[in-house]
Order: sequence, then C-alpha cells, then structure tokens
Amino acid sequence: MEDMKRRSLILVAAAFGFAMLFAAVVIAGTTVEDVITFEPITGEGKYQDRTVTFSHKKHNEEYNIGCGECHHDENGKALTDLKVGDDVQKCIECHSKPGEVATDEKMKWRKERVSRKDQQKMSLEYHAEALHENCIECHKDYNKKNKTKDAPQACTQCHTE
Ligand code: HEC
Ligand code: HEC
Ligand code: HEC
Ligand code: HEC
Repeated sequence: MEDMKRRSLILVAAAFGFAMLFAAVVIAGTTVEDVITFEPITGEGKYQDRTVTFSHKKHNEEYNIGCGECHHDENGKALTDLKVGDDVQKCIECHSKPGEVATDEKMKWRKERVSRKDQQKMSLEYHAEALHENCIECHKDYNKKNKTKDAPQACTQCHTE
C-alpha cells in the first residue's frame, strides 16, 4: 500500500515535470506581434521620424499569405513548413547592413561594371533593400493582377508617421 502511494506520487511528480518542460519549450519558441512596428535603424536619410506598421496577422490570415512568402532559411530557401511557435530569425540577422544602398556605393558599382546579378546580390545585404523587395514586389504584383491600389507601393503609404 505504502509502495503504491509512493509510486503514484512519483508519477504525479513526473507528469508535472513533463508539463513544465513542455511549457518551457512552447514559451521558448519565437512569438510574433499581430502588428509589427519597424523603427528606422540608420539614424540618417529619409523618414527618420517615421515608422512602418506591418500587420503580420492580417497578411497571414486575411490576405492568406503563407509563411514561406516572407521567411526563408540561410540559403534563401522558402520556409513553407513554418508553423506558429517555431523559432524565426529576424531579417536583419542575415540582411545585416542597415538602411538602403548609398548612392555613391551604387555609382561605384556601376563604374566598376559590377554585373546586374551581383549588384542585386550586394543590394540584398542591406536590410531596407531586402524588405522593400519583399514588401513592394508583392504589392505591385497584387495591384496589377487585381487592378487595384489597395496594397501600398508609395513611400509615405508605408512610412506613415
Ligand atoms: C507577408 C510577409 C510575412 C508572412 C506571410 C509571415 N511573416 Fe512572419 N514576419 C514577417 C516580418 C517582416 C517579420 C519581422 C521580422 C524582423 O523584425 O526582422 C516577421 C516576424 C515573425 C516572427 C517574430 C520574429 C522575431 O524574432 O521577432 C515570427 C515568430 C514569425 N514572423 C512567424 C511567422 C509564421 C509562423 C508565419 C506563417 C504562419 C509567418 N510569420 C508569416 C513577415 C511575414
Ligand atoms: C537565415 C538568413 C536569412 C534570413 C533570416 C532572412 N533572409 Fe532573406 N535571403 C537570405 C539569402 C541567403 C537570400 C538569397 C540571397 C541571394 O540570392 O543572393 C535571401 C534572399 C532574400 C530576398 C530576395 C529573393 C527573394 O526571395 O525574393 C528577399 C526579398 C529577402 N531575402 C527578404 C527577407 C526578409 C523580408 C526577411 C525577414 C522576414 C529575410 N529575408 C530573412 C537569407 C536570409
Ligand atoms: C506576398 C505578398 C505580400 C507581401 C510579401 C507583403 N504584403 Fe502587404 N499587402 C499584401 C496584400 C494582398 C495586401 C492587401 C490589399 C487589400 O487590402 O486588398 C497588403 C496590404 C498592406 C498594407 C495596407 C493594409 C494593411 O494590412 O495594413 C500595408 C501597410 C502593407 N501591406 C505593408 C506591408 C509591409 C511593410 C510588408 C513587408 C514587411 C508587406 N506588406 C509584405 C500583400 C503582401
Ligand atoms: C510596402 C511598404 C514600404 C514602401 C512602399 C516603402 N518602404 Fe521604405 N521601408 C519599409 C520597411 C518595412 C523598411 C525597414 C524598416 C526600417 O528600416 O525602418 C523600410 C526602410 C526604409 C529606409 C531605411 C530607414 C532606416 O534608417 O533604417 C529608407 C530610407 C526607406 N525605407 C525609404 C523608402 C522610400 C524612399 C520609399 C519610396 C520610394 C519607400 N521606402 C517605400 C517599407 C516600405
């Protein structure tokens, strides 16, 4: 009888331990805000006094856009199997140069006759270039396809206040 009690106590303790471990794993996953606010990061150039508001939840649920349209791995391969709660890296971890490509830098590339493909690759190292390409290219395609202007393409429609 005593033995039974002790055993069930151990079982309860083990179950509790597992529950805590599970909770810890769930909490450790990356959570995402429904609405993400991007602050300018360079401290210079255009729109330093403005933020960009991105409705993550709406893009996902209302506009029905899969995770892989925006999130990819270290080789640029779309993370189509991503699930809510999975760890996700911020864009800046890979597109790590702040802001856009400076005009002199672009001029230099042209002068050195860097190929278009390499220019594109080097541009993508910049955070704002990667985001602009991701956000604006989709918006352009969407507007064209649907003969609308609902997806913002103009600077101040995203860099609002
Ligand atoms: C339309 C584009 C888009 C779609 C679709 C999308 N995301 Fe995101 N997600 C982003 C952007 C942009 C960020 C902000 C990244 C940053 O701050 O560098 C982000 C941030 C996140 C973060 C927070 C990362 C952090 O450390 O702050 C998580 C988690 C996440 N997304 C998961 C998902 C999952 C899961 C899906 C699919 C169910 C998904 N996302 C769909 C664009 C998207
Ligand atoms: C783990 C590293 C990593 C993270 C995190 C990452 N990227 Fe990338 N991204 C890459 C690589 C590698 C490429 C391919 C670059 C090339 O082809 O030169 C790429 C390519 C791109 C491209 C061009 C190709 C395409 O898919 O259209 C865009 C736009 C882009 N990333 C935007 C983003 C955005 C927005 C985020 C955050 C939501 C993000 N990336 C997060 C590594 C990353
Ligand atoms: C794969 C396609 C896709 C990508 C990538 C994408 N969007 Fe959108 N976006 C849409 C669509 C579709 C709409 C909705 C148009 C409508 O109202 O019918 C939209 C609407 C918006 C709107 C206005 C309505 C709202 O939801 O607030 C803003 C602002 C916006 N997007 C910002 C962004 C930003 C910032 C990014 C990049 C971080 C981004 N989008 C990436 C497809 C996309
Ligand atoms: C679809 C939304 C969208 C549109 C349209 C857009 N941007 Fe952006 N822009 C962003 C996002 C998202 C970022 C990255 C967050 C950040 O750095 O503030 C960004 C970053 C920037 C930055 C870097 C700010 C910094 O200091 O880090 C500059 C400069 C910029 N954009 C200028 C422009 C200009 C100029 C236009 C018009 C030709 C434009 N953007 C159009 C969404 C947009």
